[in-house]
Amino acid sequence: MKNFWYACEFSFAITNKPKQIMILNQRFVLYRNSQEKIIALKDQCPHRGAALSLGWIQNDCIHCPYHGWKFRSDGQCIEIPSNAPGIPIPKKASVDSYPVQEKYGFVWLFYGDLPATQCPPLPTLPEYMISTMHPVYDEGIDNANYARLMEANLDFTHVIAVHRKSFGQRIPRNKTISYKVEEYDWGAVAKVNYESLGNSKSFLNLLLGGRPELKTRLSLYLPNVTLAEISIGRGNRFDIKFGILVAHLPIDDKTTLVKRVLYRNILPLPWLDGFFRKLDHKLAQEDTVVVATLGSQSMPKISEELHVAADALDITFRRLIQKHSNIDSQNYPINKSSQPVQVG
Ligand code: FES
Ligand SMILES: [Fe+2]
Repeated sequence: MKNFWYACEFSFAITNKPKQIMILNQRFVLYRNSQEKIIALKDQCPHRGAALSLGWIQNDCIHCPYHGWKFRSDGQCIEIPSNAPGIPIPKKASVDSYPVQEKYGFVWLFYGDLPATQCPPLPTLPEYMISTMHPVYDEGIDNANYARLMEANLDFTHVIAVHRKSFGQRIPRNKTISYKVEEYDWGAVAKVNYESLGNSKSFLNLLLGGRPELKTRLSLYLPNVTLAEISIGRGNRFDIKFGILVAHLPIDDKTTLVKRVLYRNILPLPWLDGFFRKLDHKLAQEDTVVVATLGSQSMPKISEELHVAADALDITFRRLIQKHSNIDSQNYPINKSSQPVQVG
């Protein structure tokens, strides 16, 4: 899925120092010029192939760390220190440059082969979350496939097992979970509500005067972003909201750089950010430990695994991947009426 905008880094992490970003074994170098605009170039010097990201920036140009060739922000080399001024610089002495946008605290990079104007637009995230909730940022490298990690973030029912020690034991079970998936060209969304969470002795129950309701909404934004919106409350009495926005950057098939933003509407005190970051990190690790053990890291065909009604969002995700990567489409059901193998 090349012809998409990839959420690849937090905006605050790109400065006037070059930074390497890797997407599916391809290296990119990003930096800010003196106008604060982000420049993105191929991170490979055309001379001997050194990583420009180890070089330095001067007057908005990047210098290769090996022999000091100097490249403009459009990628063209304009100075070769071992040649006297006036010696022409070949046109081929250039690196590819890429369009970049900034939105929602992320940098979005386009490295496809279509004009960027023809590719899907950046997602529109829920306004209430972006404008009123307090974010904390976290990141880490996971030894798992990016699509498999996304799948876990689009999975309503894994919480009862994967997260059983943190909060999953409060989710009611032995009830068929089924829901409607709203599918659109470059993503999908679904909601599941639980009328009452278990554990009558919890502090939260005392606070709310009864068992709370849990509302969950999971969204997919191709190619690499998921959002979980979680709301815990009781009538209008209380409304604790979390938003977990995750960008999954595939470094290679089995390694993913995960960038997470945890939004909250409670206790927006900066000195509590460390606590919430740790909590988010713990939950993410609970997923990764299991996802890293999946039999197949690459996403199998729908018919190669078993599915239950609760997997509908995940199946939509697989169809969309297939539709946009155009692989083996004869064997892969991409129209909405195709039924996956379903158990129960
Ligand atoms: S490798 Fe970049 S200048 Fe030689
Ligand atoms: Fe999870």
